[in-house]
Amino acid sequence: MKTAKLILDGKEYELPIVVGSEGEVGIDIRGLRSATRAVTLDSGFANSGSCSSEITFIDGEKGILRYRGYPIEQIAENATFTEVAYLLIYGSRPGADELAEFNRKLTYHSLIHEDMKNFFSGFPATAHPMAILSAMVASLSSYYPRSAIDNNELNIIRLLSKARTIAAFSYKKSIGQPFMYPSNELSYTENFLHMMFSVPAEPYRISPVMERALNLLLILHADHEQNCSTSTVRMVGSSEANIFASISAGINALWGPLHGGANQKVIEMLTRIRDDGGNYEKYVDLAKDKDSDFRLMGFGHRVYKNFDPRAKILKAAADEVLEEMGKNDPLLDIAKNLERIALEDDYFVERRLYPNVDFYSGILYRAMGIPTNMFTVMFALGRLPGWIAHWREMRLDPDGRIYRPRQIYTGSTRRDW
Ligand code: CMC
Repeated sequence: MKTAKLILDGKEYELPIVVGSEGEVGIDIRGLRSATRAVTLDSGFANSGSCSSEITFIDGEKGILRYRGYPIEQIAENATFTEVAYLLIYGSRPGADELAEFNRKLTYHSLIHEDMKNFFSGFPATAHPMAILSAMVASLSSYYPRSAIDNNELNIIRLLSKARTIAAFSYKKSIGQPFMYPSNELSYTENFLHMMFSVPAEPYRISPVMERALNLLLILHADHEQNCSTSTVRMVGSSEANIFASISAGINALWGPLHGGANQKVIEMLTRIRDDGGNYEKYVDLAKDKDSDFRLMGFGHRVYKNFDPRAKILKAAADEVLEEMGKNDPLLDIAKNLERIALEDDYFVERRLYPNVDFYSGILYRAMGIPTNMFTVMFALGRLPGWIAHWREMRLDPDGRIYRPRQIYTGSTRRDW
């Protein structure tokens, strides 16, 4: 077995090395504190593996993303979102019968309890749909209490299916339209579009282009290993909090503008640039200016130091979808110019800042008629299978422990009151 050596206060310690299936090397420090009284310090956990996981592999240097071993490009080309959800959660591609059964269950658990509809009236019309989504997902736990892991399997289906209904209802609430109930005739993605855009007087005509684009967007967001929201789900779940409470925490973590909230911020930034006469160079300069807190939203990533493969796929899709729908979005041109200028600029080149998944996703959501404040909700719907897969993996792990990092205390030493 390979080991690493640590010398502390002149004393040598041997630490085991763990090697992942793609050759990633980790120094196992689990015994460090008991042996030395020392802990490691790693703000933002940028170099800390919090768990071993079999779900998603990322090589940020090479721009590689794989779910359960399958390259994201192949999945994006060939799969449906529910197939990907099954793959992520249960570890293998579903056979035709398994997929049909999974889809059937998702269809038959799509309603929310009628009493929950009353919750919506308590929110102001201006409520952010992420606030509604997280509150309602946590509230599901009062209707579907947890017992054994078997019951959690059903709760997984409920969560995947009902979160989509809640998301669409939160939109209807914000525009003052009646809620549209899900239809058992429709697929997972069609049903979402129906609940969002149908009105009682007129069912929404779901175009295949829209459905394909939605599938693609959800698939590309479905998992991204130990990001902020997924780590939050694992953190909360590690205390054995129920699945709804754990996922609701993940939704809140996703909301921030440095994480999933960036997709909303990208469109707000592009709109600001357009309204300011389209002078993108000015904004590239502003992003470089250390005296300003402006950042190019949708740029940079903790893990990718190369193109985010999801951004590449979405850029091509944005072109295709807009063309097929006969739409022209001036924000897409601004985005492309911004990307071109930034990628030639030393500041971005040296720091290896590339467009991330949030840079082009908003252009697609806009083309689909999804309002800007719903973008992060769309990210959450896509990320659900990933959060669930990690929550489940953690709960089934016999070596799982409650998450409880250490700290280096830098406050006052003892003083008298
Ligand atoms: N615009 C301008 N400068 C940037 C940007 C940006 N978007 N991102 C990073 N930098 C600079 C940063 O100022 C720092 O410069 P210096 O070394 O001179 O201090 C350097 O690049 C490294 O940045 P960092 O903040 O230390 O990197 P991080 O890994 O802690 O943060 C990030 C990653 C995604 C939070 C950050 O790149 C960012 O704020 N990007 C904009 C928000 C965004 O698009 N978020 C979505 C992320 S992808 C989807 C998701 O996972 O949710």
